[in-house]
Amino acid sequence: MKKIEHQFTIEEYQLEELNATEQSLMHKATTATQLSYSPYSNFKVGCAILLENGETVVGANQENAAYPICLCAEGVALANATANHHKVPIVSMAITIATLNQKVQDPVAPCGLCRQSILEYENRQQKNISIYLKGEGKKVYKVNSIKDLLPLNFSDKDLS
Ligand code: THU
Repeated sequence: MKKIEHQFTIEEYQLEELNATEQSLMHKATTATQLSYSPYSNFKVGCAILLENGETVVGANQENAAYPICLCAEGVALANATANHHKVPIVSMAITIATLNQKVQDPVAPCGLCRQSILEYENRQQKNISIYLKGEGKKVYKVNSIKDLLPLNFSDKDLS
């Protein structure tokens, strides 16, 4: 038996420690939570994406009475980016939430489906995407690549 150890890093910041660009992106993600349609979960997720051309696009989760049809904020934002800014690389993504009782203080991480989806964008553009995660508190987690959140992943390489 052989053990494979995989190291990954999550940087932890307080919101005020981020630079102006990062804080602005996080602020846009927070504002985007208000675009959420989430009458079933009351869990509003907002995502803001910074593109290499300096533009920002946002997305929020869109639910459906048929629950599995729900769209995550990250997926909505990624589709927005690719539809409106074709082939412009993504630099970073900020993801945050808003709940009814504001009790989710710690950063919330993207679901598995979103991680896989972000991985495809990262591989497509052959450039890492920085990801900033925040809950309703001031703590922010940053990873420099989605691979830090999806270490043993499935990608195009497996199909060749
Ligand atoms: N949700 C997201 O928007 N992104 C994630 O990464 C996890 C979950 C949404 C889906 C659903 O509308 C609500 O959060 C509760 O699961």
